[in-house]
Amino acid sequence: MSAFWSWFVIAITVMSMIGALWLLFSNAKGKMTTEDTGHVWDGDLREYNNPLPRWWLNLFVLTVVFAVVYLAVYPGLGNFGGQFGWTSDKQLQERLEKVEAKREAIFAQFGDQGPAELSKNPAALSLGKDVFLNNCAGCHGADAKGAIGFPNLTDNDWLYGGSPETIVASITNGRTGIMPPLGATMDKDTLEALVKTVAHWGDPSLDPAVREKGMAQFNTTCMACHGPDGKGNPMLGAPNLTDNVWLYGGTTDRIRQTLVNGRQGKMPAHQPLLSKDEIKVVAAYVYSLSH
Ligand code: HEC
Ligand code: HEC
Repeated sequence: MSAFWSWFVIAITVMSMIGALWLLFSNAKGKMTTEDTGHVWDGDLREYNNPLPRWWLNLFVLTVVFAVVYLAVYPGLGNFGGQFGWTSDKQLQERLEKVEAKREAIFAQFGDQGPAELSKNPAALSLGKDVFLNNCAGCHGADAKGAIGFPNLTDNDWLYGGSPETIVASITNGRTGIMPPLGATMDKDTLEALVKTVAHWGDPSLDPAVREKGMAQFNTTCMACHGPDGKGNPMLGAPNLTDNVWLYGGTTDRIRQTLVNGRQGKMPAHQPLLSKDEIKVVAAYVYSLSH
């Protein structure tokens, strides 16, 4: 603050303290008196005007002394920073450094073990679970079982792959799965045949004529991403369509929606949010859920 406002604050503070003392002493009565003020209640209760007990008066004086000492030591008087140069900013910095040192010590115990080894270490798992609950549970669920659009991380069925390195990569850099809206590129009958084919991939009760029509379309528009046998492609995050695990649901309605509107699942990159060590322990935790 500018020198003017600094002195303004100092003047008001000092004047208030002097004022408080003056008020105390100018009103302090010296002696006990036998003369009452003339106020009488209930017939015989009389009011006297006697001094405060000494110890009480001294308490008030002490508050002013406290203020003087406090303002000498800590910042408070305008721009005067106090005797020891204490600032809340410095204190915060010191505490952050302490926390950081503690954090480093905790992670140091894991050395350069990777997520697969750490997934057998109870201390790492408990830490990883904390990181998970704080950063991932909002999307993947507290039990990591996911929801529509958010993959289940406990079933060992992976969009991008479940090796420790791949899990670390998914968390670090994020992932974006792009299923383009393709419904409009084919006629209605073909779309319905394709929807049924995908919904009943291995089901022998599906009409062979429908399957033939569906597969013909699959081989022209879908195979490039979902693979010739429909088992998916982890490079693109294209899901396996032949199993019973669905990111967006496996009913004909859901599959039709996926084809007509497309889907775009986004796993945010966590690199700036979490340190490498935190990513490692949370990856260990995720890995442990299916191993
Ligand atoms: C904003 C929501 C969101 C948050 C937060 C989030 N995720 Fe994800 N995550 C997703 C979505 C959506 C996908 C699927 C991406 C796709 O469809 O391609 C995904 C995919 C993944 C995958 C790849 C799964 C596979 O089958 O290959 C892993 C591993 C993963 N997340 C772990 C985590 C971890 C660990 C955290 C916390 C550090 C986290 N996620 C936080 C939404 C989120
Ligand atoms: C450009 C690559 C690409 C093409 C072409 C493509 N897909 Fe996809 N598909 C994906 C990706 C990637 C996802 C995952 C989207 C996500 O993670 O949000 C996906 C998701 C899906 C899903 C949802 C799966 C689930 O588990 O819920 C279905 C169903 C699907 N695709 C069917 C098809 C069909 C049928 C075709 C052909 C008409 C097709 N896809 C063409 C890349 C593609």
